Amino acid sequence: MIPRIVMAEALDDLAADDPDAIRSRIDLQRVHRSMGTRAILLRGLTSMATGHHKAIPLRLLEIGAGDGSLMLSVAQALTPRWPAVELTLLDRQALVDRSTIAHYAQVGWTVVEEVCDVFEWVAGSVDLLPGGCPTAHWDLIVANLFLHHFEDQPLASLLTAIANQSSLFFACEPRRDWLDLAGSHMIGAIGVNHVTREDSVLSVHAGFNGHELTALWPKQAGAWHVQEYSAGLFSHCFRAERLELN
Ligand SMILES: C[S@@+](CC[C@H](N)C(=O)[O-])C[C@H]1O[C@@H](n2cnc3c(N)ncnc32)[C@H](O)[C@@H]1O
Repeated sequence: MIPRIVMAEALDDLAADDPDAIRSRIDLQRVHRSMGTRAILLRGLTSMATGHHKAIPLRLLEIGAGDGSLMLSVAQALTPRWPAVELTLLDRQALVDRSTIAHYAQVGWTVVEEVCDVFEWVAGSVDLLPGGCPTAHWDLIVANLFLHHFEDQPLASLLTAIANQSSLFFACEPRRDWLDLAGSHMIGAIGVNHVTREDSVLSVHAGFNGHELTALWPKQAGAWHVQEYSAGLFSHCFRAERLELN
């Protein structure tokens, strides 16, 4: 198996208004279409929510949300089954534009953009929940193409914070294997720029395989049902459901 190697991605070091970054974020939507990400997320989220005590997650947090467009496409597909969701989009760059928020409003979802480093949230220095209630739970936390940015140790602390503050968690990440690595080298075929081409290869090297995320999920965080699996041609998913709230 290819060893996991985490390296800084080019997009992460570019300013939000850098033309190469703007183009690469548009490319990301094309990458999601070729990865089938929306369908993978929809399947994962709806099947988890079906067994959840609330059935419809009301309070949802996406970490490393980027411009929020991927979750918007999911919200549009979930309407009208998931009305009135309160969504917080966390990213360390301010990337969500007004029209995206307006489109969320059209499906009845309220959006709050939170610009901070996710590890400020892990450290407790950023309180994302209204009323400053530290024990309040997110119904659902989602991460997409995000966890692979981190080495195992910080990732374990991020997963612990997630387990302490949510009832459901779903992540869709790059799968790390030879087929996916070959695919990442050919991504230029879909017309993406040099930043996206470079980052795609780095993402696969930093991606996941087998039960690597399960191994990092906290054991002391209460009773959870966890599953980790390959999805589509290029994705690796992890889902966790808190059992006592079902
Ligand atoms: C590959 S993009 C994925 C965006 C979106 N989830 C998607 O799938 O389209 C990763 C995102 O994570 C954000 N990011 C990276 N490190 C972060 C950190 N430590 N805290 C918060 N956001 C971070 C970047 O700004 C970027 O928008």
